Amino acid sequence: MRKPIIAGNWKMNKTNAETKTMITELLPLVANADCEVVLCTPFTALATAVEAAKGSNVKIGAENVHFAKSGAYTGEISAEMLVELGVEYVIIGHSERRQYFAETDTTVNQRTIAALEAGLKTMVCCGETLAEREAGNTEKVNERQILGAFEGFTADMFANVVVAYEPVWAIGTGVTATDEEANATVGYIRSVVAKRFGNDVADRLRIQYGGSMNPKNVKGLMAKPEIDGGLIGGASLNAEDFSKVVNFNA
Ligand code: 13P
Repeated sequence: MRKPIIAGNWKMNKTNAETKTMITELLPLVANADCEVVLCTPFTALATAVEAAKGSNVKIGAENVHFAKSGAYTGEISAEMLVELGVEYVIIGHSERRQYFAETDTTVNQRTIAALEAGLKTMVCCGETLAEREAGNTEKVNERQILGAFEGFTADMFANVVVAYEPVWAIGTGVTATDEEANATVGYIRSVVAKRFGNDVADRLRIQYGGSMNPKNVKGLMAKPEIDGGLIGGASLNAEDFSKVVNFNA
């Protein structure tokens, strides 16, 4: 019922030349994908990525967006600017932005609303740190982040929302949450959404897992009933690896 979505997050990687090479290599490998395919690139590579992916089944996303429509925000990029480039998706509230760039639940909420109003689809991230998990606060932290991200939302605002559950301890570490751990927390996140916004919203909401997802572990994770996709960092930088994740069902 929920169409799987596999998205790459390149983070601060790839020049325009590398972007063109990688996407050209990737397109034939994922042309028959059974899921929605998204690649999120640095702002500087977006125009090249949109051009390279034109006419294909690969959609292009950004990795952040500012919440204001325009104004004195040196160095920032608005949702309208992304839409103009042909960008369809945007990642919001990634843990690296929370950790290094003072992102808060409030700014995640503001960015998500600005992105949706401009017609972008959003991948809104949540996830606990190792210390939070070890203190037994996994559910509390994810609940706070989810309710914060969607503060003031009504059911109809979820049409273009995807959630990405990314336990911080699993990002870039090679340590993946077990299939069961990931499924349990994603299920918990869905229950939080159901309680606040209703079962319909929760049943339709796609929730990705992210954190060291790769060609080897994708099948097990995607077989879990609560997990609707993946947000892939390291393994999205290489066309062959990313195509294997995308074609997890093949
Ligand atoms: P890795 O796949 O490199 O662990 O990164 C996950 C991630 O942060 C995707 O947004």
